[in-house]
Amino acid sequence: MCGIVGYIGESQAAPILLEGLSKLEYRGYDSAGIAVYDGENIKVQKAVGRLKVLSEMTHDGATMQGVVGIGHTRWATHGAPSNTNAHPHYNQAETIVVVHNGIIENYMKLRKRLETKGYQFLSETDTEVVAHLLDYYYKGEPLEAITKIMHRVEGSYALGIIFKDHPEQVYAVRKDSPLIVGHGKDGNLIASDVPAVLKYTRNVYFILNEEIAVLTKETIGFYNVDGEEIQKECTTIDWDINAAEKGGYEHFMLKEMYEQPQTVRDTLNPRIKEGSIVIEELGMSDEEIQKISKIHIVACGSAYHVGVTAKYVFEGMARIPVEVDLASEFRYRNPILEKDALVIIISQSGETADSLAALREAKIRGVKTLGIVNVVGSSIAREADKVMYTWAGPEIAVATTKAYSAQLIATYLLAVKFAQVRGEVLEEEVTGILKDLQKLPEQIEMLLSHKEKIQRFANRYIAAKDVFFVGRGIDYAISMEGSLKLKEISYIHSEAYAAGELKHGTISLIEEGTLVAAVVTQEDLYKKTISNIVELRSRGAFVLAVTNTGNTEIQKAADYVIYIPQTNRYFTNSLAIIPLQLFSYYVSVGKGCDVDKPRNLAKSVTVE
Ligand code: G6P
Repeated sequence: MCGIVGYIGESQAAPILLEGLSKLEYRGYDSAGIAVYDGENIKVQKAVGRLKVLSEMTHDGATMQGVVGIGHTRWATHGAPSNTNAHPHYNQAETIVVVHNGIIENYMKLRKRLETKGYQFLSETDTEVVAHLLDYYYKGEPLEAITKIMHRVEGSYALGIIFKDHPEQVYAVRKDSPLIVGHGKDGNLIASDVPAVLKYTRNVYFILNEEIAVLTKETIGFYNVDGEEIQKECTTIDWDINAAEKGGYEHFMLKEMYEQPQTVRDTLNPRIKEGSIVIEELGMSDEEIQKISKIHIVACGSAYHVGVTAKYVFEGMARIPVEVDLASEFRYRNPILEKDALVIIISQSGETADSLAALREAKIRGVKTLGIVNVVGSSIAREADKVMYTWAGPEIAVATTKAYSAQLIATYLLAVKFAQVRGEVLEEEVTGILKDLQKLPEQIEMLLSHKEKIQRFANRYIAAKDVFFVGRGIDYAISMEGSLKLKEISYIHSEAYAAGELKHGTISLIEEGTLVAAVVTQEDLYKKTISNIVELRSRGAFVLAVTNTGNTEIQKAADYVIYIPQTNRYFTNSLAIIPLQLFSYYVSVGKGCDVDKPRNLAKSVTVE
């Protein structure tokens, strides 16, 4: 996600902004920019690429004189990484300048309204709307304009703002995106995260949702959304800088697992409007959706496992036949693609060589292609006919967690949309389905809060040689991802098996005490999988079951049960995967493995 830094004080602002932004590099970014008030005007400098480019361009900030400024590293969401889209963004008169982290969900509507009032937009970003909207409401009193826009803007935001008329102040405001204030000796700072200010101060205020901070070089005032002053407590930070860059988490993987509720919300919320699913970027008419004869899902690694789940969801809900392929297979198997087929490529990085080649193969054959991609402006995002972004933000740990969860959500949204358009679900059912989708973030939060229980369980298995994951239907797809997570970060051999297929192979490998994780979330298949569990246990397996709350019958069959909350049968993957991720993580930690950078693996595989 983007990084924000702001400074006002006795020192030159630009070097402090650059230094602070460098401490936020871990968040991932593709362009950067700073704005400094030089005594007369607000000057802006931006650069695509690494922060180094911006530092060189400004001679480490020396060319931008001034003691008040804001800076930003941008992880592209709306619009490709470019100078124009990079922050800070001005209003037209260049008297207000804004940096933003988050997603303004109603930006299209606001943009259209502002355009009718004569505002001209330079960038494709959602952020520019904020600069113009502030301009629209600004009548000489910044706080008033800020509280007004807070009532108009929907979505998530952390904003740093400077008004040319009030150069003795920096304004900060947040809702659902992180922002802190640092109280320094020779000035005050704002930042997305603590490490950016630690060089200057350990005294920090955490801005909460819908709170505004007004910084001068000596003072910091806090206000609520009605512009009333509020009191806040200062916290003294005693962590070391390295830990802080992971937001206090021991590993990026743990941090990213904890970001899943937000990731799911960010992928979901902008696409649910007034009780229905709106996927503008799909660019397909109802007629085109009705005509889809087959869906081909093509991906690698965990993204492929999302595809396996999605097959059950599309076929079950929308009754569209689906084929799922590993990209490395699809590209060479001379696939038969009907003219009304839709090829969906799923990729976090958007750069995976095989997935990109598969996309190109599909395009050569003239079928419609859709990318479900996390990195904006990546090759797959650029080359697919249409792109649906997962708003997971940068993922640093090699083993994917939050991007996987966001990809699942994107496929659910498509499946429900297609089912609705094709008349496979009743309108009244859709309301219930959407409710279940919107409940997922808090249900994931709840599952994450049980991490100690799973940690204790995982510690018993750090010496395991083989672990098996079994399930039927969607549960088989969840098993595949659970198994991959474990083997990639703990180096324990593990396999996923369709539960009904056990007796044709895996069962011969079961010995006294072998751990088998059985995923049992599909009610109509409970009995079938329970019989498999009984078979396994009678051969000595220790069975961990992941099942729905209410399935008490399983307690008689399994050795250890983890319950997930009730949801729509097609969405259980989003919940059942959480304990499996935590299990793999804690086994890896217990074994002392390099959790975030497992041996021999790469985050983005750009070679065949
Ligand atoms: C690598 C990563 C996996 C990922 C796969 C596909 O193997 O380690 O976590 O699932 O590539 O990557 P993509 O960026 O295309 O989703």
